[in-house]
Amino acid sequence: MMTDLKQIPVIVLGTGGVGSALLRQIVDGREQITSRNKCRFEVVAVTDSQSCLFAADGLADGELLAAVERKQQGMAVADGIRPSEIEIIDQVRQAGWEKGVVVDVTAVAGMEPVLDHALAAGYGVALANKKALAGPWQTAQKYFNHPRVRHESTVGGGQPVIATLRYLLDVNDPIYEIEGQMSGTLGFICGQMDGGVPFSRAVREAKELGYTEPDPREDLSGKDVMRKALILGRLAGWPLEEADIEVESLYTPELADLSAPDFLDEVATLDETMRLRVATAQTEGMVLRYVAEVENGRGVVGLKPVPAGSALSSLKYISFRTARYDDEPLLIGGKGAGVEMTAAGVLGDMIDLAREEL
Ligand SMILES: NC(=O)c1ccc[n+]([C@@H]2O[C@H](COP(=O)([O-])OP(=O)(O)OC[C@H]3O[C@@H](n4cnc5c(N)ncnc54)[C@H](OP(=O)(O)O)[C@@H]3O)[C@@H](O)[C@H]2O)c1
Repeated sequence: MMTDLKQIPVIVLGTGGVGSALLRQIVDGREQITSRNKCRFEVVAVTDSQSCLFAADGLADGELLAAVERKQQGMAVADGIRPSEIEIIDQVRQAGWEKGVVVDVTAVAGMEPVLDHALAAGYGVALANKKALAGPWQTAQKYFNHPRVRHESTVGGGQPVIATLRYLLDVNDPIYEIEGQMSGTLGFICGQMDGGVPFSRAVREAKELGYTEPDPREDLSGKDVMRKALILGRLAGWPLEEADIEVESLYTPELADLSAPDFLDEVATLDETMRLRVATAQTEGMVLRYVAEVENGRGVVGLKPVPAGSALSSLKYISFRTARYDDEPLLIGGKGAGVEMTAAGVLGDMIDLAREEL
C-alpha cells in the first residue's frame, strides 16, 4: 500500500437508488481514486431506514456489494436493530477515526442534528438530500458556505451547477438571476404534452417508466423544484424562505387528499385545461416547460412558455445571469438525471472533501 494514502472513513446514510449506486461507484472506482487522489474511502457504516451494516475498520468491497444486492431484493441492509446516526458517528470516532465523511442520501427530513454532530466532530458532510438545506433559513444558514459541507447533487442531478455558482461567487461576479428546468420528470411530462399526449397519460407514463415518486403528486406539486431554487438562491447569497417562492402545483387542491390510485383515476379532469394551455402556447410558437426563476428576494416556479425548438425547450438546464454574463447568461445543460449521475456528484463531493478539508 502507498504510504501517503489518506484513509477516509465514510458513513453512508440511505441505501436507495442513489446510495446503492454510490456504493458500487466507490468499489468500482477504487484504483482510480487511489492513483488520482491519493485517498481510499473506508465505508464503515451503511444504513437504511431499519438497519445498519457496520465495521469500524471498513467494510470489505464484497460486503458493500452484498448490501446493494440485499436492497435490490427488497431486504434490509443488515439484520438486527440499528443504533441512531449519532451513535454510529460516535462509534466511528471511538474507533480512532478523527476525520471522516457522513453522506446523506436519504430523502428524510430532520437530519440536521446528525449533520451538526458530524460537523462538530470535524467530519465533512456530503448531501444529495435537499431537506436540511431547504429548511427554515435560521437552521439551514450554517450549511451554506460551510467549508466541510458539499451538496453538488442537490441541484442539477450531477451537472456541475453548485461548483459553477461557487466559482462565480469566488471571482466576485454578482448573481442577478438564476433560471432553469430542474426536473427531468416534469420535463418528460411537458415534452409528451407537446406531441398531443393528454396530461393524465403523460403522468401515468412517467410513473410506469419509474420517473416519478411512487405518488406522482410529490413531483407534480413542484416542491422538489422549489427546494432546488431555494438552495441556489441561498447559495447566491439571498436569505430566501420557502414563502418567498411562488410555486405552481400541477394538480388542483381537490385532488390533494385522494389516495394515490384515486388520484391517477381523477387526474384526467385536468387534461382539458392543460390541453388548452399547451395549444395557446403553440399558436405563439412556444411550448410549455416547468421553469424555476429566482432572484434576490423572490422566486417563481411553474409552467412557462419557452420558444419551441430552442435549446431551452429541450435541455435540462440551469442558467446564471450575472454582472459579467448579463446579456448572454452562463448556461449549464445536459442529461443531469438519474441515480448514477447523482451518485457521481456525491462521490465527487467526497473526493473534494478528502482533498481539501480532511
Ligand atoms: N434519484 C435521483 O435521481 C436523485 C437526484 C437528485 C437528488 N436525489 C436525492 O437523493 C436522495 C436519495 O434519493 P433516492 O432516489 O436514492 O431515494 P430512495 O431510493 O427513496 O432511497 C432512500 C433511502 O433512504 C433510506 N432511509 C429512509 N429513512 C432513513 C433513515 N432515517 N436513516 C437512513 N436511511 C433512511 C431508505 O431506507 P429503506 O430502503 O429502508 O426504505 C432508502 O434506502 C433523496 O433525497 C433525493 O431527493 C435523488
